[in-house]
Amino acid sequence: MDRKDKYYIKAKREKYRSRAAFKLIEIEEKYNIINKNDYVLEFGASPGGWTQIIKEYTDMPVVSVDLSKMVPIDNVIFIQGNINDVSLHGKINEIMASNNIKLFNAIVSDAMVKTSDNGERDHYQSYQLCENVMELSIDLLSKNGNMLLKQFQGDMTDEFLNKWKSKFGFYKITKPHASRPHSKEIYILFKNKR
Ligand SMILES: C[S@@+](CC[C@H](N)C(=O)[O-])C[C@H]1O[C@@H](n2cnc3c(N)ncnc32)[C@H](O)[C@@H]1O
Repeated sequence: MDRKDKYYIKAKREKYRSRAAFKLIEIEEKYNIINKNDYVLEFGASPGGWTQIIKEYTDMPVVSVDLSKMVPIDNVIFIQGNINDVSLHGKINEIMASNNIKLFNAIVSDAMVKTSDNGERDHYQSYQLCENVMELSIDLLSKNGNMLLKQFQGDMTDEFLNKWKSKFGFYKITKPHASRPHSKEIYILFKNKR
């Protein structure tokens, strides 16, 4: 991996924790998924580049989940937890209740295991993470809410879209310029939950 590409250097210079931050900025500027008064739930948050950006778009507390620890950010409630573990749902519900969050207005996931040289395996694991994020959190998303998920594109991507798109008014696959050009990484955007 080229650790010193232009987005990596830009992220360091602009003090974001990851080059991934620029992907979210690009998607947000084009599709507007997060607004000032929105409660946002984030999966795959660490080290926190996306979280920093989300904080710039909303004034409300953000709930962020990752397997790995994260250096705290003001007004961010961090849950160290596993998307594939059913107990995560209970932990999120507890945090919502104690912070008086009824539902989230936007849910984003940049979660991904370390990629390998096996594209099919990467695709399947990423598809599974997306499925689990949807199953775990679709009922926590408000009417008209938006959802953004990273997926490594492959055979199951169409099946995934076909399963979930009817729950939203709009959907789109997008690939930000900040994604590495040869990567199978895409972002699936669902807007306006029915
Ligand atoms: C590409 S990084 C996210 C970068 C982050 N968006 C940022 O801007 O700093 C992917 C993250 O997904 C997390 N992840 C992978 N599998 C997960 C799982 N099963 N549950 C929770 N987090 C997971 C990893 O720990 C990793 O921190």
